[in-house]
Amino acid sequence: MRVGFFQFSPIFGSPAKNLKLIRESVKKTDSPDILVLPELALTGYTFEDSEEAYSLSEEVGGKLTGELVSIARENRLTMAVGFLEREGKHLYNSSILVNGEGVVGVYRKVHLFREEKSIFKGGNTGFPVFEVNNIKVGLLVCFDWIFPEAMRTLALKGADIILHSANLVLTYYQKAAITRAVENRVFIVLANRTGIEARFGSRNEFTGESEIVDPAGKVILKAGKEEEGIFSIDINPEEARDKKVTDLNDIFEDRKPEFYENWG
Ligand code: ACM
Repeated sequence: MRVGFFQFSPIFGSPAKNLKLIRESVKKTDSPDILVLPELALTGYTFEDSEEAYSLSEEVGGKLTGELVSIARENRLTMAVGFLEREGKHLYNSSILVNGEGVVGVYRKVHLFREEKSIFKGGNTGFPVFEVNNIKVGLLVCFDWIFPEAMRTLALKGADIILHSANLVLTYYQKAAITRAVENRVFIVLANRTGIEARFGSRNEFTGESEIVDPAGKVILKAGKEEEGIFSIDINPEEARDKKVTDLNDIFEDRKPEFYENWG
């Protein structure tokens, strides 16, 4: 299976332009089977306030979803895309998983970062696992990384690959992802964005360096801080089903939940 990420700098406030760029970029690349795009890939990140974010949001199943499904259909791929989701009067910082047939699933970001707390409602989907070509995938969005419980939950539910959409402004995760991958023995496809957004007194400089990490913690593909484009690599997702770190240590069988306190 070939997995990849599209590292780019979404144009703020213009889903149409971003969709055009995504469509053109995917078309001229040898498509991976699964492609991950950054957080809020269609709208940009630095909203003035919740009204502005609301004006750029859309329900799952709307026109933007239709466009993403048509890109997936034309290129025979599955995409995880950071998506500004509206449901009634609420906004969610979501990741939408689509293939050529439609929406496979949605994850709503649980752990909101900084000003996101005044714009989005905290996610209420939990951490669902979806199937793509008989492989199990879990979705995460950016700051979820700093809560090890998030990826652990997905791994315990059988996720082989974590499709992680991000707008990272800190530089820890590109290193920490190695630990997350090893402690869960999963693949991580991190799609981070590039560029700077400076709007209404907020300045976000995004840290790029999207990467793919294997279950042994090896960074098997990495983009530069400013590099843009689709990067992909062949993996064997079944490697994630072997949870052994030594011949005598299976990291799931060796867990001792009876001693883990104050988790809930
Ligand atoms: C982040 O969660 N966008 C840093």
